[in-house]
Amino acid sequence: MEQLSWGRHYVMVEPTHFRVEYVINPFMDPSDQPDPALAMAQWRALVATIERLGGTVSVLPQRADAPDMVYAMNLGLGLVAEDGAPQVVMSHMRYPQRRMETRSAQPWFAEQGFATSYVGADGVGAHLEAGDAFAFGDALVVGYGPRTEELALKHLATELDIRVRGLRITHPGMYHLDLAFCPLDERRALVCPSALDEASAAALLALVPEPLVLTEEEALTTFCANSIVIGSTIVMPACPDRVRAQLEEWGFEVVILDLSEFHKGGGSIRCLTNPVDVQIGRDLPSVPGGEVILPPV
Ligand code: ARG
Repeated sequence: MEQLSWGRHYVMVEPTHFRVEYVINPFMDPSDQPDPALAMAQWRALVATIERLGGTVSVLPQRADAPDMVYAMNLGLGLVAEDGAPQVVMSHMRYPQRRMETRSAQPWFAEQGFATSYVGADGVGAHLEAGDAFAFGDALVVGYGPRTEELALKHLATELDIRVRGLRITHPGMYHLDLAFCPLDERRALVCPSALDEASAAALLALVPEPLVLTEEEALTTFCANSIVIGSTIVMPACPDRVRAQLEEWGFEVVILDLSEFHKGGGSIRCLTNPVDVQIGRDLPSVPGGEVILPPV
């Protein structure tokens, strides 16, 4: 089975100011705060695991006024252009509580050598949150609805010259695609169809040749879709026995890490790690002019 070529270089934010300060998803409850020392230890264990598996981690500091910035997946969509130039389309967060994150992330990415661009910023233009966008098959698969807006798909397709396949997210608890979808290799992915409307669920199942279908309960209570894959190892916050049996049968090694403190803010392993090594022309076909494919209404 062809392993994913991407997923070896991650951007992460060190959780020095992680708190649950407001409520923008059903998991957040400001009366249930993360333990700062435990959160830091869990985060460090994740970094160590990625490095042990041969991955690289670039760390960006957390702004004191941005408690959710630890969920680095949402800072922007990193891609390597066909000529090898790294770029990142900055997120334009749905909620104003997270918009200041971009003000630190953009200069940081620029300093690291990424060309940066926007589809919207400071409340003007399309909302895009990168936890909704993953390369799979012949396209960038983008969930829209709770966070990313449909208009952003058009911008991504035309500005990056790629095919974008949109999926309508309807489940309030799976407000980012990465809570319901995790590419495993070139043919396989974890998929939780109950995050999506009927047409989008059918479109995603048609796109993934060998889906490992998760129940709504598995995805919501264990965050198991919010995992990352490095070669043939999958790093997960939890793994139901049934899911583990299938993953192992397919030849994956399952590594479980406790990220409990970060679940209090509504995110887990994928949300904390932003892969910036997806290459256009290798992991995503280049489609001059771009193309957007939406599920039937
Ligand atoms: N509290 C954050 C928010 O609601 C959690 C982000 C989770 N990230 C993710 N990629 N799913 O925005």
